[in-house]
Amino acid sequence: MSSNVRPESMERITNEALAKAFIDQQVRELREQIGDKKVLLALSGGVDSSVVAALLIKAVGQQLVCVHVNHGLLRKGEPEQVVKVFRDEMNANLIYVDAVDRFLDKLAGVSEPEKKRKIIGAEFIRVFEEEARKQDGIEFLAQGTIYPDILESDGVKAHHNVGGLPEDLKFELVEPVKLLFKDEVRVVGKALGLPDNMVFRQPFPGPGLGVRCLGAITRDRLEAVRESDAILREEFAKNGLEGKVWQYFTAVPDFRSVGVKDGKRTFAYPVIIRAVNTKDAMTATVENVPFELLQHITDRITKEVENVNRVLFDLTPKPSATIEWE
Ligand code: XMP
Repeated sequence: MSSNVRPESMERITNEALAKAFIDQQVRELREQIGDKKVLLALSGGVDSSVVAALLIKAVGQQLVCVHVNHGLLRKGEPEQVVKVFRDEMNANLIYVDAVDRFLDKLAGVSEPEKKRKIIGAEFIRVFEEEARKQDGIEFLAQGTIYPDILESDGVKAHHNVGGLPEDLKFELVEPVKLLFKDEVRVVGKALGLPDNMVFRQPFPGPGLGVRCLGAITRDRLEAVRESDAILREEFAKNGLEGKVWQYFTAVPDFRSVGVKDGKRTFAYPVIIRAVNTKDAMTATVENVPFELLQHITDRITKEVENVNRVLFDLTPKPSATIEWE
């Protein structure tokens, strides 16, 4: 296994030519490491696992088995995009697992944030393990570990590994981007031909919308989070804020308030908008979103999203708040 220390001589990958050289070298090394064996990858559709998938497709083609677990907590359109990009366009060997009911059943009634995270993480491993057991002849496990994961923890962050697999499924690791910083992973992803909205996307937590559907997750509020998030992203993109604001999303709390629609009283959920900027996620400031745009987004969300009658904008920096609500 190669070293976990980035050599001082390693040039920062800042342009397409450097990315292409990195890709060529990785393809050679991956072919050497993997030979004619099979390699398994949990493909979430996030930047890191997508770049690893694209590298491996280039290096070993059908020997790569990608598993995409749809746990129901992804953003609108994401599972569909994974299938379209990797199966339809890149001809990857992709197993799509619809585990939505399974996750939501396990999460039903659970309101404590860390407990929700644990359930999502554990269930993910379980689903992935089941799929791994259906495969014959897997010898390698690919992971989208990146250099900050190595620097920030002794091993890898939970969302970048499927550590926790039982002993008999401990495959040899393949981590082709483990010495790269995030901006380099993006340059490599672009050079590999991945779509911009996959390569330049904002950070998204491992437990996904699960930590933005506050308290015990219900299907109606989860849909309200997903739909309002899609409207927010669409409006930020249209108004030049995509790529400018570090992270922006909506959250839906587990209480309702009184409103009025078409002359009738409603009792529905609020949507909270959060838009923040930060360098390292340890502290964050709030984006000064134009008021007219906030009014327009409010209008769209209250008209288009079911079970919602109110929109709030979170003005709190970190600290005292965290970026996520849970
Ligand atoms: P907080 O809320 O702690 O978030 O200010 C800082 C950054 O971390 C992300 N975040 C997570 N990412 N699993 C993840 O992979 C998690 O459980 C998790 N919780 C928060 C958050 O989106 C922000 O970018």
